[in-house]
Amino acid sequence: MGRKKLRIAINTGGGDAPGLNAVIRAVVISALTKGWECFGIRDGYNSITIPEKYDEPFFPLTRECVRGITHLGGTILGTTNKGNPLEFPVKKPDGSIELVDRTDDIVAAFRKHNIDALIAIGGDGSLTIASALCSKGLQVIGVPKTIDNDLNRTVITFGFDTAVSFATECMDRLHSTAEAHQRVMVVEVMGRYAGWIALNSGISSSADVILIPEIPYDIEKVAAKVMEREETKRHFTIIVVAEGAKPKGGTHSVKEKEIGKAERLGGAGEIVAQKIREMTGKDCRSVVLGHLLRGGTPTTFDRLISLRFGAAAVRALDQNQNGVMVALDPPAVRYVPLDEATSRMKVVPLDCDTILTGRELGTCFGD
Ligand code: F6P
Repeated sequence: MGRKKLRIAINTGGGDAPGLNAVIRAVVISALTKGWECFGIRDGYNSITIPEKYDEPFFPLTRECVRGITHLGGTILGTTNKGNPLEFPVKKPDGSIELVDRTDDIVAAFRKHNIDALIAIGGDGSLTIASALCSKGLQVIGVPKTIDNDLNRTVITFGFDTAVSFATECMDRLHSTAEAHQRVMVVEVMGRYAGWIALNSGISSSADVILIPEIPYDIEKVAAKVMEREETKRHFTIIVVAEGAKPKGGTHSVKEKEIGKAERLGGAGEIVAQKIREMTGKDCRSVVLGHLLRGGTPTTFDRLISLRFGAAAVRALDQNQNGVMVALDPPAVRYVPLDEATSRMKVVPLDCDTILTGRELGTCFGD
């Protein structure tokens, strides 16, 4: 038996990922079909926390708003990884920044506008905020989004497959130019502190070296792999470097750290390229795929999983569930406690069969 007719809000937070619009479409159509009302929150929670910049905190999401968006990258709601409501930056009269908890304001806005529940589509940061809102009395369902695939308790997050497919295609292209010029090509991919994108795309494209945060690398081992290939008349090498990769005894490369924002990683690939150039005398080039991995059309896998996640989130509300995240536990979509999803990061297990496969096929992991 269905519940009373709900008024629900959706938000998208953190870095965008291909499939966000498909989730939104599935949520809106499933909810409207039940006779519920749907609203969007703009740019994370900004339309609530920075009201002076917006016409309204919640805007109606109609059937018309979500027509023809399944295949589109980005998010029709907008997103941000600034202005975290748990640590909202407020400028004090002396110019310094104070971080303030604004979650009470968000709960108050829901109450004021008679919104019954929130479907929060996000990665670890956004789902931590969602969990805090839930503990303050809001009914919340989470949907796991991130190209990094680092959320706990779900086998996969939407966006990951598209990022891996694109990275694989890029590495295929780099193979031919690397071979033609007898060069070492170093490719840096996103993924934050987890090596899922580097590992899956690197194995799929037969990269020679894959460096991931989970296995701190010894640059001597990487150089030895390049030279071993030289000796067997393979005069080019493809090296995939996760942005969070770090040398043994060292740390990951940080590009930028701003108050109230996660640190921005970057530069790991160039460091490896410079060292390999010095150590082997080979011509090396480094390429950063960066935000290209987040853009574009979601793959069929990501579209399907996004639509399934969105519909499952509405089903969860219909069953009066609360504080859960939709998760893929193949072949089923299930519900797991929201706080377990964010309690620890899902990194690549060192004994997983993708790493074993790489080792058996001669991939160097820098160890
Ligand atoms: O979490 C997704 C992600 O793309 C990471 O892989 C990357 O480190 C980060 O976001 C980049 O964030 P920004 O959009 O702030 O550059």
